[in-house]
Amino acid sequence: MTVVVPFGLSVRDQALEADVQGRLTAVEEGLLEATKSEIPFITEAAQHLVRAGGKRFRPLLVMLAAQFGDPNEPGVVPSAVVVELTHLATLYHDDVMDEADVRRGVDSANSRWGNALAVLTGDFLFARASQILADLGPEAVRIQAQAFERLVTGQILETAGPRDGRDPVEHYLDVLGGKTGSLVAVSCRFGAMMSGADERVVDVLAQYGERLGVAFQLSDDVLDVASDSHESGKTPGTDLREGIPTLPVLRLRERAARLGLPEDAELVALLDGDLSDDARHAEVLRRLRVHPAIDQARQDAVRYAEEARAALTPLPEGSAKTALMELCDAVVHRAG
Ligand code: IPE
Ligand code: IPE
Ligand code: MG
Ligand code: MG
Repeated sequence: MTVVVPFGLSVRDQALEADVQGRLTAVEEGLLEATKSEIPFITEAAQHLVRAGGKRFRPLLVMLAAQFGDPNEPGVVPSAVVVELTHLATLYHDDVMDEADVRRGVDSANSRWGNALAVLTGDFLFARASQILADLGPEAVRIQAQAFERLVTGQILETAGPRDGRDPVEHYLDVLGGKTGSLVAVSCRFGAMMSGADERVVDVLAQYGERLGVAFQLSDDVLDVASDSHESGKTPGTDLREGIPTLPVLRLRERAARLGLPEDAELVALLDGDLSDDARHAEVLRRLRVHPAIDQARQDAVRYAEEARAALTPLPEGSAKTALMELCDAVVHRAG
């Protein structure tokens, strides 16, 4: 399988691009190997989303972060396999939670095999990730376990909603740090750590990853409203349909309360209605796409991406740093 560097990221340095590509190909082989079972059906279910594609954003970050040490170190490729397997497992579970039918342009596992098998296949992927982690040592196991705890806590807090009196936007940004920032940060941390980079560099890259992860998720929320399924490989408006209050909606509610404009109030009323009704759902999407709230959410994403860029300042100049900086633009301007 050929791996194209995601987001059309132009790694200007051809040697770096070839290096990253080569290692991402090794990650693909590792993913297929790690998802094989003696039971053919389990292999089919576990490889369903691996073979469907995906951007491999987290493995890419591992490889770029590994440039700050020696990327030939033996832990680099397996740690990228671990983060992608963990991500995949959370997608199997997330599509059950969000009742999503389409993922990576194919039927979601839950829509093809039902919720029980989708959840168990997600667990199978976690188990395989853990086995690879065990060979990377106790520190790697601890880092992964802590990130996974944060990720799950984020998913739980998203489901539970803000406690009384808590600002919904602040709650939501905390949720994103947990459900997405945590694993993106670990991707950067693992790449740097496994390559033997200096400890300060490892911490800088992890901070970068945390912020980039939030920017990435914010742009995913915008895409849920603004993109079509061809670009995203998902069904647009899934978050809306499920009543997940993502940032465009939170910004709309905030603005409606602040300015008291009738057109905002009308859109909020539509949103609060029955969005299982296709016509109403389409109407909300159509209006939200051109609403100032979506621009505000885009700007929120840009702000986090700029914070990620700023985190890179202490790193030595070079093509790896340039590529990480370019990713800050790419995550917020992507189409899918
Ligand atoms: C989807 O992640 C879930 C989010 C955290 C936004 P990706 O957008 O990285 O999904 P794939 O791996 O490319 O399918
Ligand atoms: C994806 O979250 C799962 C995690 C980040 C753990 P979302 O539900 O926000 O993302 P999509 O839109 O389904 O990919
Ligand atoms: Mg989802
Ligand atoms: Mg979700």
